[in-house]
Amino acid sequence: RHLSTSQSTAKVERLTVFGAGLMGAGIAQIGAQSGLKVILSDVTDKALENGLNIISKSLTRVAKKKSPDDIEGFTSKILQNIETTTDAGKAVQEADLVVEAIIESIKVKRDLFGFLDTKAKADCIFATNTSSLSVKEIAESCGKERREKFAGLHFFNPVPAMKLVEIIKTPETSNSTYESLREVTLRMGKSPVTCNDTPGFIVNRLLVPYLLESIRMVERGDATPEDIDTAMELGAGYPMGPFKLLDFVGLDTTSYIAQGWREKAAAGAISKELVEPIGLLEKLVKEGKMGRKSGQGFYNVS
Ligand code: CAA
Ligand code: NAD
Repeated sequence: RHLSTSQSTAKVERLTVFGAGLMGAGIAQIGAQSGLKVILSDVTDKALENGLNIISKSLTRVAKKKSPDDIEGFTSKILQNIETTTDAGKAVQEADLVVEAIIESIKVKRDLFGFLDTKAKADCIFATNTSSLSVKEIAESCGKERREKFAGLHFFNPVPAMKLVEIIKTPETSNSTYESLREVTLRMGKSPVTCNDTPGFIVNRLLVPYLLESIRMVERGDATPEDIDTAMELGAGYPMGPFKLLDFVGLDTTSYIAQGWREKAAAGAISKELVEPIGLLEKLVKEGKMGRKSGQGFYNVS
């Protein structure tokens, strides 16, 4: 008889998510919706509150379609699967899977995983939702045993609506880790694809250069953000033009991605001209205009 993968891979029941921002909140939500016991952790109570707010709004939206007669009952049942804490050590004690969705900084991510490696169960799988950093370099913050249980798990914004997840294997990621991640993402209702640990994986490698080039187009004075958005929505069939999408993704996150890739470009992993610094992007970030999450980006989006 053919051995099913469930006999060789551990089934994920307890999920801990680090970072209660745009992505972490969405990942915690879909975990809870698929019946996992979820702990959401961040550094401040205010950030956790922000995450729970994002989740409540999104769940209300889902409930309006799935359970229009009992929106309150639907959302509160799912919210019961989510606990929150600022205590990172406690948050991972019983986790089967950790998904990290904190700031896009290799140092901060490595510091967190290095600490979690000493606190989590030996068989707990670690995954990073990084958009652009090397999964292998993040995994190197952990011991050898854990590195076999370390992978990239890249969700898309807004997590409850976007069906894709990219699973990134490093040379050390074991097959059983990969299978466990595939299985849990299918349970979450996602469609997994696999990619090597290369800058931007599949989607961002193609999407981010396009977003950056659209900012350069405005800088050159070729067209306005409004006209570029209209052009790509009506002329290329994209659901959002590049400037609406930049505000949606976060200008800070986009800037971190470009910055990280500049370092990779020096080593030849990506073309240098794709990631040349862009004055307009850096100016907006410096002014605190991060996009939707701060109320102002290329558009006023409060
Ligand atoms: N929570 C729950 N459900 C949501 C949601 C949310 N926050 N946002 C949208 N939805 C659902 C809606 O309820 C609706 O569901 P049904 O089809 O079942 O009715 C569906 O998504 C479509 O939403 P709407 O009809 O309200 O609006 P829309 O058609 O304009 O779609 C959108 C909204 C899905 C965000 C769409 O505009 C879109 O796809 N935009 C592009 C998003 C994108 O490209 N994301 C990737 C960014 S890059 C990234 O994430 C990677 C990275 O590392 C930076
Ligand atoms: P965000 O700014 O909305 O949220 C980040 C959260 O992480 C904040 O709440 C912050 O307080 C928290 N945080 C920072 N350091 C922490 C730590 N040491 N421990 C716990 N929490 C900490 O960012 P986001 O857009 O959710 O992005 C998070 C990650 O997901 C990044 O790696 C980003 O590249 C990636 N990502 C983003 C998108 C997107 O469209 N925004 C899509 C896919 C992947």
